[in-house]
Amino acid sequence: MVQTVRMNLQATISALFPSGVAVCYSACCPPDAELLPAELAHTRNMVSSRLSEFRHGRWCARQAMQALGLPVGPVGKRPDRAPEWPAGVTGTIAHTGSLAAAAVARADDFVALGLDIEQAGPLEAETARLIVRPDEDGGVHGNRAKVLFSIKEAIYKCIHPVVRTYVDFQEMRVDLSGPPGSFAAVPDTNNFDAAMIAGLAGRYTVTDELVISACWIMPTH
Ligand SMILES: CC(C)(COP(=O)(O)OP(=O)(O)OC[C@H]1O[C@@H](n2cnc3c(N)ncnc32)[C@H](O)[C@@H]1OP(=O)(O)O)[C@@H](O)C(=O)NCCC(=O)NCCS
Repeated sequence: MVQTVRMNLQATISALFPSGVAVCYSACCPPDAELLPAELAHTRNMVSSRLSEFRHGRWCARQAMQALGLPVGPVGKRPDRAPEWPAGVTGTIAHTGSLAAAAVARADDFVALGLDIEQAGPLEAETARLIVRPDEDGGVHGNRAKVLFSIKEAIYKCIHPVVRTYVDFQEMRVDLSGPPGSFAAVPDTNNFDAAMIAGLAGRYTVTDELVISACWIMPTH
């Protein structure tokens, strides 16, 4: 049963991304998941729960790189917390509770990827007001606010390594008017040029327990 759920979520997350993206989903960190020396250097001040999710995410990243046939190298950590992918690779890591997932692609095929996984359920109204813009579909109540939260976190993970500046939740409008399950990102900020993230597209899904959002930027040339 657990194995079936694991395989379903693996397929569910994979289906959110276009072909060319390899996904690894894992429900709990394998006991033998080891960090490479270059990764261990980033773990000095981590408490054990944080170390465990870091290890788990890196393990997923390695499985995904292997699935793409890429040489497996260390996934470092930049000062802004973004993963530092090996040359020729781009990707994204998500974790929540005991689960983790990574999505990885060749950097020739994708500029950047973003993945976010949240426990389903409402956001507190006060938090939701910080996340949801007045011009976004759905207001601040119910699961809809959590969906917008997850989508915006996936967008941030995707665009931050490209724009290299903080982008507040209110500086990004999520457009859900396209095909069901898809979204577009509409920046509303002077902090970066919207052309930098042209070509960004995304999909999301809601399961019984999780909200999962995926986005990607393809080269525009
Ligand atoms: C970066 C952020 C989105 C991550 O959210 P989170 O709740 O910690 O999400 P998760 O636990 O699923 O993912 C954490 C992973 O995100 C990745 N990540 C962290 N910072 C990142 C960044 N600046 N760019 C890309 N990926 C990043 C890392 O891989 C991290 O895991 P690791 O440290 O083990 O490698 C969040 O902390 C944040 O700063 N949000 C505010 C900005 C925002 O979301 N704006 C929305 C409008 S675009």
